[in-house]
Amino acid sequence: MSFCSLGLCDELLKAVSEQGYTMPSPIQVEAIPAVFKQRDMMAVAQTGTGKTAGFSLPMVQLLSEGERPQPHCVRALVITPTRELAAQVAKSVENYSRHMNLRSGAVFGGVRIEPQVSFLKDGIDVLVATPGRLVDLYNQKAINFDQLEILVLDEADRMLDLGFIDDIRHIKNLLPSKRQTLMFSATFSQEIKSLASSLLNNPLLIEVTAANSTVDKIKQKIYSVEKARKSELLIHLIKHNQWHQVLVFSRTKHGADNLVSELEKAGITAASIHANRTQHARTLALEGFKNEDIAVLVATDIASRGIDVNQLPYVVNFDLPYVPEDYVHRIGRTGRAGKLGLAVSLFSMDESKQLQAIERLIERKFELETIAGFKPNKKAIAQAVAKEKHKNSNTQNRGKSKGNKPVDDEYGNFEADPEPRGRGKSKGRKKLRR
Ligand SMILES: Nc1ncnc2c1ncn2[C@@H]1O[C@H](COP(=O)(O)OP(=O)(O)OP(=O)(O)O)[C@@H](O)[C@H]1O
Ligand SMILES: [Mg+2]
Repeated sequence: MSFCSLGLCDELLKAVSEQGYTMPSPIQVEAIPAVFKQRDMMAVAQTGTGKTAGFSLPMVQLLSEGERPQPHCVRALVITPTRELAAQVAKSVENYSRHMNLRSGAVFGGVRIEPQVSFLKDGIDVLVATPGRLVDLYNQKAINFDQLEILVLDEADRMLDLGFIDDIRHIKNLLPSKRQTLMFSATFSQEIKSLASSLLNNPLLIEVTAANSTVDKIKQKIYSVEKARKSELLIHLIKHNQWHQVLVFSRTKHGADNLVSELEKAGITAASIHANRTQHARTLALEGFKNEDIAVLVATDIASRGIDVNQLPYVVNFDLPYVPEDYVHRIGRTGRAGKLGLAVSLFSMDESKQLQAIERLIERKFELETIAGFKPNKKAIAQAVAKEKHKNSNTQNRGKSKGNKPVDDEYGNFEADPEPRGRGKSKGRKKLRR
């Protein structure tokens, strides 16, 4: 199967060839013709398999055949859960449509709104946005949806989950009911699929691989280690194996900053990316990492979805995520577009619940490994188990105390909380930061 036989126009064939793509990926083979048929769609395909081009290529071709946008109007809207992903998707759309006469761009929070208001004045064909800033722009009358033809939710399960759902429902009510709606992700739960039915009209379900499955080319390893020795082990792994480009996930913002200090003390260049950093600092950190100016980027789950770093070889879970789907996305930052990757998780005994949840989700049982010199001693394990029991009994005693709700100011960015998140509830969470 070639891009040509999928019905792409010459301008797009030229653009994909300039991107170095020779053949469409399986999700592209399925999704591109379906988008051309103007069907609503929910598409599931593993991380790094080209979902962005799967919706962007046919979308820009459809738009190129229609009328130009009126002032303030947007013709296609792509919603993403993080600012970095919005910028990246907008860049991809720009690359794919470079030989077409279309206007595209991204709007997200953390930067001044005025330039975005001016940018929207002339109307835009494809707008990629995070939900909060989009609502703000609408409230300021900077944007008009009368001409909207296509809505895409990238990382759809995340967009319909928890704190995002209120904004998405609100945005949906602002859009024309006659439109094409597309949802893409590497993970989907049954619950999210039912919730999606309120957004989609007679949708096509495309599953090129089982939902929640991980890419075979990513080698996954779990190293058992005492909690207090995780940073020491990470430094050992980086130095001993001469790892040069490592994306490390930390569950908390505070933990991410501490880890950066420890890595720097050990002579390893590192930076953090999380919601407490300014957007400028976040952008610089990601750019520095992509350019290989810094060896280690320590991130919260803000960087777990959709972010594409060319040929990123190593991902480390410093902590296991509370939400098992996040494991699939985190490790999916490596092993992209058919490349090999290594994903290492540092596991301490207090994380057995998270590990079991991940094993259930991806239907795989891990063998715990140890690194010479870092084998947890029995006394430490007994202490961790006792601590865990104590914590669990406290959790039960706390009952419905409001004081321990996750504190979440942007997607996937939690301060430490011993309880896993509930699913499908939107109440009780702090409002997302725009
Ligand atoms: N047909 C293709 N041939 C080669 N490379 C491709 C092709 N399509 C996309 N790519 C490249 O594959 C990488 C991953 O693409 P993309 O980010 O769209 O994946 P994804 O499926 O959206 O992943 P995630 O689930 O992590 O969001 C990108 O670098 C992209 O340029
Ligand atoms: Mg993607």
